[in-house]
Amino acid sequence: MSFEIIGTGRGEPDFRLTNAILEKMVDTSDEWITQRTGISERRVMVDETMRDLALKSAREALKDGGITPDQLGYILFATISGEYRTPSQASILAMDLGVDCAALDLNAACTGFLYGLDMADALFQANKAEYILVVGMEIMSRYLDYTDRRTCILFGDGGGAVLLKKGNGLKAIHASGKGNIDVLNIPNVFPDTPWHKETETRNTIEMNGREVYKFAVGAFLDELNLCLNRAGMTAQDLDLVIPHQANSRIIESARERLGVSEETFINQVADRGNTSAGSIPLLLDELNRSGKLKKGMMLGLVAFGGGLTSAGAILEWTKE
Ligand code: UT7
Repeated sequence: MSFEIIGTGRGEPDFRLTNAILEKMVDTSDEWITQRTGISERRVMVDETMRDLALKSAREALKDGGITPDQLGYILFATISGEYRTPSQASILAMDLGVDCAALDLNAACTGFLYGLDMADALFQANKAEYILVVGMEIMSRYLDYTDRRTCILFGDGGGAVLLKKGNGLKAIHASGKGNIDVLNIPNVFPDTPWHKETETRNTIEMNGREVYKFAVGAFLDELNLCLNRAGMTAQDLDLVIPHQANSRIIESARERLGVSEETFINQVADRGNTSAGSIPLLLDELNRSGKLKKGMMLGLVAFGGGLTSAGAILEWTKE
């Protein structure tokens, strides 16, 4: 298929919001959070901006891939927490990189980064670009009610970028959705106009954790199995699975049902919590820079999120 990853980068804020700090803010405990989610701490943007962290990630990915910004054909930015309604975070990044290529944001919540890869696949197949930058980054902390213990313990800020080049690394990719407002939403709160009196007051996340959980485990398996079938592979052919980092129990349950080893399934939710569209590119960069990704490795990527959305991909790591 159409592309390979040739560069990665990431942007993470410094402040670590630990379970101990949260214990002082809401009626929760380190024990409850650790047992139910596997999360110990998350990063929160205090002094940083998404603009700065996205630029850092992009520059790192471009350097890693050995190209200059003017070679980019598209910038796809997966986020639900961009700093402006318009311009898009992608347009701001293009401006900061000094390029005039097409740039747009994608909203598929936690699945956004994989939706971005799916869109990139289509753009490469249509010969629209030689290089595409896909970013996934969030400031989830801005959409959390820090008096709501059901949600404020789960999410963190940050993300990363990957640089894609036309190539044959991608073996299968699939994205799908199952529209549902009730189980996970963040409403807009609009100003009153002469014709509309705003009734919505909440612009923070509301979620039915149990329903999302049920959807997540099924979606992980469905997306991975579908991609494996399309690629003519079995789960045992995967060297690493990089799942969206939402909850250790979701990851562990999917791993067990897929029948692969603990070493195969990356579970690092403890350090960052759920960074939504940021979680997979963050991990890709971390694994790339620590030398854990070796040329020829077969990677499974899988995510679920608000929408409801889900997606999977199988990708050969072709970088030296
Ligand atoms: O990327 C998509 C984002 N969303 C997700 O990934 C969410 C997926 N779902 C989950 O991760 C889990 O459902 C949660 C971690 C959110 C919740 O775990 P759970 O085992 O499903 O707990 P629950 O919602 O059924 O709540 C069990 C109890 C309740 O108390 P009662 O009604 O039994 O007395 C909650 O009020 O736990 C209580 N509870 C808490 N207690 C201490 C809920 N949150 C907390 C908390 N600390 N932070």
